[in-house]
Amino acid sequence: MVAGCGADLAVEGPDRRLVAAGSCEHSAAVPGSLDLIEGAALRFRLTPYVTGPDALASLDKLLSRWRDHLAVVPEAAGEDTAAVIAWPSRDVAGVRALVAHGLAPLGVIAARSASRRPAMIADCPPGVRIRRAGPADLDVVARMGTEVVRFDAHFGGVIERPRAAEALRAEVAGLLDEHEPWAWLAERDGDPVGLLVAERPEAAGWIAPRTCQSPLAYLLALFVAPAERGAGIGTALTGHLHCEAAAARVSVILQYEQVNPLAVPFWGHQGYRPLWTTWEARPARMLR
Ligand SMILES: CC(C)(COP(=O)(O)OP(=O)(O)OC[C@H]1O[C@@H](n2cnc3c(N)ncnc32)[C@H](O)[C@@H]1OP(=O)(O)O)[C@@H](O)C(=O)NCCC(=O)NCCS
Repeated sequence: MVAGCGADLAVEGPDRRLVAAGSCEHSAAVPGSLDLIEGAALRFRLTPYVTGPDALASLDKLLSRWRDHLAVVPEAAGEDTAAVIAWPSRDVAGVRALVAHGLAPLGVIAARSASRRPAMIADCPPGVRIRRAGPADLDVVARMGTEVVRFDAHFGGVIERPRAAEALRAEVAGLLDEHEPWAWLAERDGDPVGLLVAERPEAAGWIAPRTCQSPLAYLLALFVAPAERGAGIGTALTGHLHCEAAAARVSVILQYEQVNPLAVPFWGHQGYRPLWTTWEARPARMLR
């Protein structure tokens, strides 16, 4: 990502005290990167700080300032752009302001605490076996990872870019090369039917600032072939990660699409709780 303007925005209350502030960061996703799959090519990200007795009104004013700021930034008028704000999922007081300004909740960052949730490996359906994946499985891991991108692309947050498969392959190749990778394949009679791949804490530092839980692993992808869904394979794959993470006292964080009807109940049942919801206006000029 390339740093942008870093404009500072501030809102004063009736008594001239500061009630909201934010900085707008402009960034461009690197062509061919995984980051480019996860959103618009050019992103204008507001980091908000809201205080004062009326958080809703304060955020509303801050969003208006941000909209006015973006209206005079020529690049924000482009098609492949987004105005992005990560809002604490449980901070319900600000939600109406986000909606009123034309932002949609696209993604959720959720975490599962190592200390608060017991881990266990559930049985697989008959005929299915789970084993750790390794470098020799790169083709199937990359293919199933690309299936997750394709599925998530239905919901508007993730974009299946022309070089998506290539970017994902490069990412998972590094993870599979590690000693005892946190990656597992489910197989029926030797044929792959499911995949889980995660970044160990050493590789997940990029998302660590999103939570105070530490150490932290990032669950990059979970996929079960459509004909095999709803029979417990996803739960069993997840159990393998949770048991290894629990043994290492590692919490797990992940991202899912807010309207993915398979992911939302699944992750809730697996013990994940939403931390941050990513609200976006796409293109950025749709911020109102
Ligand atoms: C999300 C996904 C991996 C789940 O895999 P799965 O194998 O279907 O998961 P499970 O069978 O373990 O659990 C699915 C549901 O079936 C239920 N279930 C589990 N075992 C069952 C069984 N033996 N009999 C009946 N139902 C069962 C579970 O309770 C679960 O319900 P929930 O979603 O309300 O929690 C799968 O739907 C998928 O690949 N989706 C597309 C890609 C995707 O969305 N990935 C996640 C992106 S963040």
